[in-house]
Amino acid sequence: MKAVTWQGRRSLSVQEVPDPSIQEPTDAIVRITSTAICGSDLHLYEVLGPYMHKGDVIGHEPMGIVEEVGSGVHRLKKGDRVVVPFNISCGHCYMCNQGLQSQCETTQVTAKGSGAALFGYSELYGSVPGGQAQYLRVPFADYGPVKVDSDAPDERYLFLSDILPTAWQAVEYANVPDGGTLAVLGLGPVGQFASRIGVQKGFRVIGIDPVPERRAMAEAHGVETMDYSSDVGGQVREQTLGRGPDAVVDAVGMEAHGSPVASFLHKAVSLLPDKPAQVAMETMSVDRLAALHTSVDMVRRGGTVSLSGVYGGQADPMPLMTMFDKQIQLRMGQCNVRRWIDDLLPLVEDDADPLGVMHLVTHTGGLDEAPALYEKFQKKQDGCIKVVLKP
Ligand SMILES: NC(=O)c1ccc[n+]([C@@H]2O[C@H](COP(=O)([O-])OP(=O)(O)OC[C@H]3O[C@@H](n4cnc5c(N)ncnc54)[C@H](O)[C@@H]3O)[C@@H](O)[C@H]2O)c1
Ligand SMILES: [Zn+2]
Ligand SMILES: [Zn+2]
Repeated sequence: MKAVTWQGRRSLSVQEVPDPSIQEPTDAIVRITSTAICGSDLHLYEVLGPYMHKGDVIGHEPMGIVEEVGSGVHRLKKGDRVVVPFNISCGHCYMCNQGLQSQCETTQVTAKGSGAALFGYSELYGSVPGGQAQYLRVPFADYGPVKVDSDAPDERYLFLSDILPTAWQAVEYANVPDGGTLAVLGLGPVGQFASRIGVQKGFRVIGIDPVPERRAMAEAHGVETMDYSSDVGGQVREQTLGRGPDAVVDAVGMEAHGSPVASFLHKAVSLLPDKPAQVAMETMSVDRLAALHTSVDMVRRGGTVSLSGVYGGQADPMPLMTMFDKQIQLRMGQCNVRRWIDDLLPLVEDDADPLGVMHLVTHTGGLDEAPALYEKFQKKQDGCIKVVLKP
């Protein structure tokens, strides 16, 4: 089959790789019909390179048609249409029972000290072949995949694989009081959905992003927007009675604009061979913390900062004095996809499309176009906000 493979920093190639096959009775094989590129894939493309191997198949936002199931799979059969969550979780361990599927104790990558295995997301998350491919092997298929009983276009359901539940969790964790104000830093796909969910819940939402077309898309969904500047915290306070918003969602993560020192370190680390680069990631402050620092600065005293953006360095200095002084609450983590599906399904199935899932994708292409589309998405060229590949 054809698959998008990682070859090095900013280097992908679409190659023939062996077809996946059933390895455990609980596996299913899914023929992929749509598979999105995520802001998290851009970290693999850029800074998480030391944890990638040449030829790794990437991608974790897929949906398609079940081709084959193992003898232990009873909920799915050949021909079913499914969306596959990016976390691989068993559905019956202690963590899954708590709704913490991203911490699943059956699939945790203990050798790396990581949580649940993820599709296509480096050796840190189990080196599991990903979904930007014609076929995908899905472990624990009786639990993870979300069945779609409709013939609506893929895009109506596709984002249940990751960014919709991620945005939902971000807003849940933000714990905004009724009628309160939520600031969303970063208006990429995750920030778009987090701000729309905030509007749906009746909050005042202020979205911040340096890219004009991303602000325009958010404005079309009832979000107030601001450009990013080094004093955006002060500007938001001015708009919120001098106090700051009740909560801030950081939907930017470790590749934020505005952190020149860490930006230099990211590039330096990417030039090292894998082993010393991993040591650097684990011992130096390599994250670009601009968005996180802005969140801490901006949020009102006693407010909540909810991080969806992924951070990867192990030794980052944080503005701890301010965090303590302002008495803020900090929540974060990979999304527990399965936990939020029941909340989200009725919203994506509503023909009125309250979250605007049909108003996000700006670029669609075949698998062969993946390398060019990754570059466009990373450089934010040609109005690119969300890319869906059709294998
Ligand atoms: N927690 C999870 O489970 C989970 C799931 C999906 C994505 N993510 C993470 O969420 C983040 C966003 O993902 P995305 O797909 O929306 O990606 P994206 O890269 O398209 O979006 C990031 C946005 O942040 C903006 N930005 C950069 N620096 C900024 C700054 N200093 N202030 C304000 N805005 C700034 C960029 O212009 C861009 O629009 C990534 O870090 C991704 O890895 C996490
Ligand atoms: Zn993703
Ligand atoms: Zn589990």
